[in-house]
Amino acid sequence: MEQVELGWDEFWAEIFRVRHRSAIQGIEQYDKLIVSFVIEVLNLKKGAELLDIACGAGDHSVEFAKRGFKITAFDISHSLIDVAKERAKSEKVEVNFYTSDMRDMSFKSQFKVAVMLSHSFGFFDHEMNKHVLKGAYDALKDSGCLLLDLMNPYNLPRFQKTWTQLEGGFLLNEPHVLDAPAGVLRGRPAMFIDTEDDRIVLMDQDALSNNDIRMYTALEIREMLKETGFKKIEFYGQHILPRLPYAANSERMVVIAHR
Ligand SMILES: C[S@@+](CC[C@H](N)C(=O)[O-])C[C@H]1O[C@@H](n2cnc3c(N)ncnc32)[C@H](O)[C@@H]1O
Repeated sequence: MEQVELGWDEFWAEIFRVRHRSAIQGIEQYDKLIVSFVIEVLNLKKGAELLDIACGAGDHSVEFAKRGFKITAFDISHSLIDVAKERAKSEKVEVNFYTSDMRDMSFKSQFKVAVMLSHSFGFFDHEMNKHVLKGAYDALKDSGCLLLDLMNPYNLPRFQKTWTQLEGGFLLNEPHVLDAPAGVLRGRPAMFIDTEDDRIVLMDQDALSNNDIRMYTALEIREMLKETGFKKIEFYGQHILPRLPYAANSERMVVIAHR
């Protein structure tokens, strides 16, 4: 069987984020619950301007738009933004989707809310992660707030090796590994058996090196947000309603930082 290697944008976006995600049963319903949580905890009123940072294929952005919010959303992956634009079109909603890198944000006091959902924070070294928070802070209006939906570092999911049947083949997912001394959750190579084209698809070096996420504790993230200028910081233990306090065994660590 032929073997090909694909980069981050192709492998992650097309195979993992689109085909794999859409194979998860109930995912659309779950996205709706997450959006309801954000609207309620942030007490958002229709028409508010919201920035979805690292929006992926736009699953949440489109749902926010359907509920009457003005959405600007970007992701580094061109392929995912293409999917997101198609989705907005088919759902007949307006979303300002575009491709960009979160390290280059240059908004000034434009949004009531910025969100980073499904653990879209911590991809870089510590200084760069702080720089991203500053970009998000600057994007917010004076009374605005940032919501980070993160994995709970004290209760990480039990990552397992899985084989999943997807459209056009099978995806092998190796479990993530926590590099404890570095505080980094390291993604492992995944492989797609492409039964349509009779080939094995692997991740190239670029895809592999983009696979790490720095895990921060609540204390660390509070410190970083305070340093950035945020005044009040709250934590919740899950990203759906009801609101649960954050604890060591919480499913998620949801951080809300007020400007
Ligand atoms: C875990 S996914 C979450 C996607 C989306 N927020 C969701 O909840 O479905 C992380 C996203 O971050 C994007 N990403 C990675 N590095 C990025 C960067 N430097 N700038 C913008 N987006 C980035 C990836 O392409 C991916 O779509």
